[in-house]
Amino acid sequence: MSKTELIAALDTDSLKASQALLEKLKGSVKYFKVGSVLFTAEGPAAVDLVHKHGGKVFLDLKFHDIPNTVKHAVINAAKMGVYSVSLHLSGGGEALRACAELERRPKLWGITVLTSFSEYNLFRAGFRGGIDKTVKLLAAQAAENGADGVVCSPGELIRIQGLCGHKLKFITPGIRPAACGAVSAGDDQNPKRSRTPREAAAAGADFIVVGRPITAATDPAAAAAAMLAELATR
Ligand code: C5P
Repeated sequence: MSKTELIAALDTDSLKASQALLEKLKGSVKYFKVGSVLFTAEGPAAVDLVHKHGGKVFLDLKFHDIPNTVKHAVINAAKMGVYSVSLHLSGGGEALRACAELERRPKLWGITVLTSFSEYNLFRAGFRGGIDKTVKLLAAQAAENGADGVVCSPGELIRIQGLCGHKLKFITPGIRPAACGAVSAGDDQNPKRSRTPREAAAAGADFIVVGRPITAATDPAAAAAAMLAELATR
């Protein structure tokens, strides 16, 4: 079994705050997520900052658009030298296929059902099959159209592994360390779909994406170290 890597989400509003986190996590964390929060504040400079610190970037902008637009966004992401990008699988297989066929591109990670969603949210959004079935259908679409990975909760991962074979990597957000207790009131991640780092690793996650349990910790380096220690027991 390959090891589970930790991606620390730099969900901060500034290069200054990101730099402080990068310095604290230097030497232990290799992968950093630059998502819509930091990217809308600082743009490509945020990606450069991670690269300057020797990290690899997961550009989590969750593209959801017509195939030509998504393809050109991925071409621009490739120019920034990011390791991976995300796109919504509910945007359709054609957009994914258009990106997968690019000669030079980052890894393509498809979002299934956001880990904040409940069955009710999903139903209200117009998906009638329920979380499990929707994740399965979207993961199958990812496998058929050249994705490198799928983003889902660790609980669903177990149910879609067989379906995707060994071709796809599994990226799991919604991670809450046991030490933090259950998902607290006011946390937007769905408690039913949230897991500890150890549980995610045991389920076969290739990457866990962790934001607030690191960024909001009094000691982010210690929080990350504790998670890495859990992952190492996989
Ligand atoms: O703070 P927290 O650990 O909940 O952050 C999770 C990170 O993973 C956030 O940056 C969020 O955007 C991202 N993410 C997610 N669910 C997905 C995909 C990405 O929570 N399905």
